[in-house]
Amino acid sequence: MAQIIDGKLVSKKILENLSDEILFLEKKPSLTVIIVGEDPASKIYVNLKKKKAQELGIHSNVIEMPESVSQKELLDKIEELNNDDSVNAVLVQLPLPKHIDTKAVIEKINPIKDVDCFHPYNMGQIATNGKPYVYPCTPKGIIRLLEYYDIPIEGKNAVVIGRSNIVGRPVAQMLLNQNATVTICHSKTKNLDAIVKNADIIISAVGQKNLIKADMVKDGAVVIDVGMNRADDGKLCGDVDFYNVEKKAAFITPVPGGVGPMTICSLMQNTFDLYKIQNGS
Ligand code: GUN
Repeated sequence: MAQIIDGKLVSKKILENLSDEILFLEKKPSLTVIIVGEDPASKIYVNLKKKKAQELGIHSNVIEMPESVSQKELLDKIEELNNDDSVNAVLVQLPLPKHIDTKAVIEKINPIKDVDCFHPYNMGQIATNGKPYVYPCTPKGIIRLLEYYDIPIEGKNAVVIGRSNIVGRPVAQMLLNQNATVTICHSKTKNLDAIVKNADIIISAVGQKNLIKADMVKDGAVVIDVGMNRADDGKLCGDVDFYNVEKKAAFITPVPGGVGPMTICSLMQNTFDLYKIQNGS
């Protein structure tokens, strides 16, 4: 039976330390989130981020813009936040409405306030094994979980399923930077089963329930599940057939309670880190 990787516990410990550090600051770190439109999932995520920030003493501000907002209005708002010294971190919740050019919006954020690490400057730093201002939240959370459980990365076969800019690509590059042998799989990959079977570390970030089944998993593999899906009974579930894979893996993350809490934890840590960078410490 696998050891459960407890993201709730690890994130709680990290956030307790962060809260202590913030307590002693005279001026608090600040995070501004822009949300456009009425997407229900986005609203839930943004509220969670705001609540967590407030709990930690991070000053948080949510700017709500209507679905009909123009590209220019959105870019002007980002410009205003870039120029506002009281704002340390800027996050534009994705997805954006179809008439907005998401790439242009991301590229407008000053890289030193880019708390998601979505800007090409910061992504490029990761791609070239350089130094972004901060690392992207979910990949950073995954690496911290591996570190916490003393799971070695160097020399291991890591298979990442999913090539999104938010998770798949950056986590693959971060594992490569730590000397893993990395394979990225996606919807056009042939022979997914055989490739996954060779993995010491499996990271699934697809959004398809029961994608990773027990017969695809090598005995003793480390299984990280980034999926967020609804099971037939309405409960939250990941990409991995947890019940059966748990019997073969050495380590496994549950959904919920694995990677999810680490993502929001990284966001808080990143806000604090940007505050420190901007204040010269
Ligand atoms: N939408 C889904 N995940 C994320 C995220 O990590 N950051 C932002 N800005 N939007 C998202």
